[in-house]
Amino acid sequence: MEQNEKILLCAKKLKESKKVFVITGAGISAESGIPTFRGKDGYWKNNSPQKLASPEGFAENPKLVWEWYDYRRTLIKDCEPNPAHYVLSDIEKKLTQFMIATQNVDGLHQRAGSNNVVEIHGSIWEIKCTEENKIEKNTEAPLKELPPKCSCGALMRPNVVWFGETLPEIQLMKIYNFIKSGDVDFTFVIGTSALFYYIIDWAQIAKQSGSFLVEINLDNTTISSIADVVFLDKAGLILPEIYNHL
Ligand code: OAD
Repeated sequence: MEQNEKILLCAKKLKESKKVFVITGAGISAESGIPTFRGKDGYWKNNSPQKLASPEGFAENPKLVWEWYDYRRTLIKDCEPNPAHYVLSDIEKKLTQFMIATQNVDGLHQRAGSNNVVEIHGSIWEIKCTEENKIEKNTEAPLKELPPKCSCGALMRPNVVWFGETLPEIQLMKIYNFIKSGDVDFTFVIGTSALFYYIIDWAQIAKQSGSFLVEINLDNTTISSIADVVFLDKAGLILPEIYNHL
């Protein structure tokens, strides 16, 4: 199918949809200037996920882990949502049932005005006491003290999900409740390498219950083979094109 036909088909399907589910990953924020993890200049090309994003890495060298998170927080703070984030926020305003399940911790969906955002890997703008598990919002970047400490004296950690940790139960329940009712009309999978089993699971559940499934990514992923339409292009180009035909 030609790109233009795909755009028109997606716009038609979206217009007919009452309930829309969106899965996003680092690729949707790439055009805002935030590096991805596994792309050409991705974080995991030159850094070790075990050292920077695991409980063991944090126990071994909390300062190193915090330096990386502080660097990312400082970078993200100066980045703006891009047209892909804004189009999703505009689509939500037209619908009563809409959810974004994001693996991103950057908060750009919310800054673009999206409301029903489920952050499955946590938020880089929250910090958590390693003793009391108390969570605080914190947007100071760069931080004055690395690693930051709680008033109780214990180390604070970023409130994000690291390798080897389980996903937050409440967020997972929200997603499964949304998709398992079987009435999702339209699903987008945008800018994720879809390497985690739960991403494939969510897309499959939606698809099996009749949802139209659209992937937007620079490369093919495991989602591509089950998607109804695949755009091998930038999210910040494709989403506005679809939206212009709504
Ligand atoms: P990845 O870095 O694995 O994948 C980013 C995807 O975005 C790739 O498939 C790119 O092809 C695609 N991409 C890049 N630029 C794009 C653009 N402008 N438009 C559309 N697609 C684009 O990032 P995630 O899939 O989000 O977790 O990674 C998942 C998780 O692995 C992250 O949340 C993080 C990481 O390790 C933790 O740190 C726990």
